[in-house]
Amino acid sequence: MHNLIARLNWLDAPGAAWLSGEANFRKQGASRKMSANIAELEKRRAAARLGGGQRRIDAQHAKGKLTARERLDILLDEGSFEELDMYVEHNCVDFGMPETIIPGDGVVTGSGTINGRLVFVFSQDFTVFGGALSERHAQKICKIMDMALKVGAPIIGLNDSGGARIQEGVASLGGYAEVFQRNVLASGVVPQLSLIMGPCAGGAVYSPAMTDFIFMVKDSSYMFVTGPEVVKTVTNEVVTQEELGGAITHTTKTSVADLALENDIEALLTAREFLDFLPLSNRHDIPERPSADAWDRLEPSLDTLIPASANQSYDMHEVLGKVLDEGDFFEIQPKHAGNILCGFGRIEGRTVGVVANQPMVLAGVLDINSAKKAARFVRFCDAFNVPILTFVDVPGFLPGTAQEHNGIIKHGAKLLFAYAEATVPKITVITRKAYGGAYDVMASKHLRGDLNYAWPTAEIAVMGAKGAVEIIFRGLSGEAQAEKVREYEGRFANPFVAASKGFIDEVIVPHSTRRRIALGLRKLRGKVLENPWKKHDNIPL
Ligand code: HXC
Repeated sequence: MHNLIARLNWLDAPGAAWLSGEANFRKQGASRKMSANIAELEKRRAAARLGGGQRRIDAQHAKGKLTARERLDILLDEGSFEELDMYVEHNCVDFGMPETIIPGDGVVTGSGTINGRLVFVFSQDFTVFGGALSERHAQKICKIMDMALKVGAPIIGLNDSGGARIQEGVASLGGYAEVFQRNVLASGVVPQLSLIMGPCAGGAVYSPAMTDFIFMVKDSSYMFVTGPEVVKTVTNEVVTQEELGGAITHTTKTSVADLALENDIEALLTAREFLDFLPLSNRHDIPERPSADAWDRLEPSLDTLIPASANQSYDMHEVLGKVLDEGDFFEIQPKHAGNILCGFGRIEGRTVGVVANQPMVLAGVLDINSAKKAARFVRFCDAFNVPILTFVDVPGFLPGTAQEHNGIIKHGAKLLFAYAEATVPKITVITRKAYGGAYDVMASKHLRGDLNYAWPTAEIAVMGAKGAVEIIFRGLSGEAQAEKVREYEGRFANPFVAASKGFIDEVIVPHSTRRRIALGLRKLRGKVLENPWKKHDNIPL
């Protein structure tokens, strides 16, 4: 075989001397034709790569933005990008559009790898009609979405677009809806990540909105349904693009986006880091990578972390930093609803989703925003078979008319629902307070928690001792009341009542938390649990 290949290679060599005159002539002709074809191919490729031209590329750079292709170069492993549909052209015949045909039609699509793992990507090219979405542009996006769904690989969209291609009218709207439909079909099947790296306005916002995570670039990206001009006309409000829908607004106030990054490069590198935590699809196992961090590492400092007074706070990040592999916690929505922490980490090199009350913010209380934030995160983990670790220190639900009138009942129910329906391994550690309904909500045993641990400092009760005594011993005051508070604390401010009922599987010494979790996750790898058949559930939206 080797000889044959060598011979064929030799045959391919120019001017193979043994060929007959005519055969040699034909061979040389074919070779010239191929060279011309390759030259034509290279010319077409170069034209497509130039997008809207050097002037517009320079304008893009002047705004501090990278081009669609430069972005893919950073996002994907070097040399891994394989482009599809490079020569696709728009089909618009109105408004002089046939005179302006740019191959690729404003979006670069294809596949590549991130740290060796397959992903499908689209990157809108603002230099071509402002990245506006045409029918063909949408078809290109749909093609890679369909492939990603078929093979089971994440979809990453780099959004930088003036919205619907105005010259195309309803064809463009149809294109959007085709993308929306695929976003929904892909939801829960393959992870979908949107990077917003320029304008994203009008109905265009709804494709990213239906993806799992949104990262935005500060100062150069925005998302809104109607822009500042329309807002002014309709409501008389004067607002800048940044205030209305910039990265800070969406990562602090609205929670539409998960992270705000400084610039394109930081956003793309963060996306690479983030993808490493995610499974390729709901059919794949969670990723595993070697970890130098001993699974049974003990952390004596955790034994003294909980302050003496129940009213004093501590930083739950410290617990996570000490329990997770190499202290690495990739936090989602760090600037929104800080009273609950959500994010990814690893134990023994395998991804875990972490939800933790944060005593440093509003004493770790559950409210509308924190319940919504954590519920969505829990559902993502469950959809993609990521085990959930829950750290509990929660004094209950936030009281007040603002919460009640804005629907804490419905929104709190989201988190309860999400935990209750989740069938992935669930390990819960109560570090301190687990009061009232919030005890039930936070992955309690009753919601099919697999392993429910408590530190000796845990207080599992209907409410804090003082509040309880004020209700059940209303008439008492002074020393009599203080005595009852001490009695209530003695009875309930510990984990043992719950443990005596089997609601807590074991009271663990804080320094052994990582070891316990690692052992628990090993045990639970083979967990099989199915919910009753249904078309889908009806989570309170
Ligand atoms: C066609 C567009 C375009 C669009 C921009 N361009 N938006 N072409 N359709 N929607 C073109 C411009 O003509 C220009 O072409 C180039 O892109 C760059 O635009 P500029 O305005 O020069 O850039 P900039 O100053 O940075 O402003 C960007 C912008 C602005 C804020 C996005 O272009 C803009 O407001 N565009 C219109 C946005 C819009 O109304 N879109 C429709 C929204 S409704 P040249 O040749 O000069 O480079 C919608 C509905 C979706 O999207 C519904 C889905 C269900």
